[in-house]
Amino acid sequence: MKAWVIYNGSLKLLKMNQLIEKLVADASVIGLELIPIKNNEIVPVIQKDGSLELTFLQDVPEPEFVIFWDKDILLASLLERKGYKLYNSAQSIEICDDKSLMHAELIGRELHMPKTIFGPFSFDYNLVNDTYLDYIFTELGDRLVLKESKGSFGMQVYMIDSREALAERIHQVGNRSFIMQEVIESSIGRDIRVNIVGDRVIGAMQRVNDNDFRANITNGGVGRSLQLTNEQEELALKAHAALGLTFSGVDLLYGPDEEPMLCEVNSNVNFVSFELATGLDYAKPLLRHLMENVR
Ligand SMILES: Nc1ncnc2c1ncn2[C@@H]1O[C@H](COP(=O)(O)OP(=O)(O)O)[C@@H](O)[C@H]1O
Ligand SMILES: [Mg+2]
Repeated sequence: MKAWVIYNGSLKLLKMNQLIEKLVADASVIGLELIPIKNNEIVPVIQKDGSLELTFLQDVPEPEFVIFWDKDILLASLLERKGYKLYNSAQSIEICDDKSLMHAELIGRELHMPKTIFGPFSFDYNLVNDTYLDYIFTELGDRLVLKESKGSFGMQVYMIDSREALAERIHQVGNRSFIMQEVIESSIGRDIRVNIVGDRVIGAMQRVNDNDFRANITNGGVGRSLQLTNEQEELALKAHAALGLTFSGVDLLYGPDEEPMLCEVNSNVNFVSFELATGLDYAKPLLRHLMENVR
C-alpha cells in the first residue's frame, strides 16, 4: 500500500523532520510505502477553463490516503476536492489551528472547560476602552490567560495580571484573533496530554513545569506516562469526536477538585516526545488505523 505524508516545506524545525522520518520508518516496518511531500512541491493551478490542476514537482505514485501534517488549509481542501482522502480532514485541521474557531465549535457539547471570552475582531490595532477591560476582569477574576488564536508550544499564551498588562497585550496582538480565559489555578504548571487514534486512547502523559504555568514540553515541561481516569478519558474522546478528528492530542487541565477540564485539541500532534516520555508507540497504531480504514 502507498500513502503520502504532506508537511511544510518552509518550516526548518528539527522535531518536524524527526517526526516525518519516524512516520516513514514505522510505515515501512508495517508494509506501507509512505512518501513524504512538501506542501510547496505541489502547485495548484486553475486553468483557463476554470478547472483545477495539481502539479507535483516530484514524481509520486497515486496514494490510497494522505496524512496531512501541515497547516496549509487551502492545499488540504484542494486535495480533497481532487478526491484524495485526507487524515486529518481539511475542515478539522482548520478548526484546530484556530483556538477561536475551536472554542466556537465546542459550544453546547457539555464539555467542562475554563470560562472563555472571544476577543473582538479588529482591522488594525484593537482599541478597547476601560469599560471593556473592567468587564473582562469582572468575568474572569484577578488574573487571566490570553491566547492568540493561532499559536503552539505555549508560545502565544500569556498570563495577564493587571488592566494595564491586558491593554498592552491586546495592543501587541494587533489584528490577530485571540481568546481570554479564567486561570485554572489548580493546574498551574501541570496538565495532561491525551493521544488518540480513531476512537481509542493510545496513551497519555502528565506534563509538569515547575518554572512556568504552561506545561508544554517545548516550553520546558517534563512528560511522564499517566494512567487516565475514566472521566479524563471520556472528556478527551468527546472533544476529539466533536471536532471530527481521526487522530489528535487533547490537552486537559486539572480542575479545582482534580476533575478534568478541556484545554485544547491539537490536530497535528507531536507524538515524538510522547513516544520518548512513555515508551509507547503512536506512529504504528496511527498508520495501522489509516491502512485499515481505507480498505
Ligand atoms: N486557562 C488556563 N489555566 C491554567 N493554565 C492554562 C490555561 N490554559 C492553558 N494553560 C497552560 O498553558 C499551556 C498552553 O496552552 P494551550 O491552550 O494548550 O496552547 P498551545 O497551543 O500553545 O499549547 C497548557 O498546556 C497549560 O499548561
Ligand atoms: Mg497545547
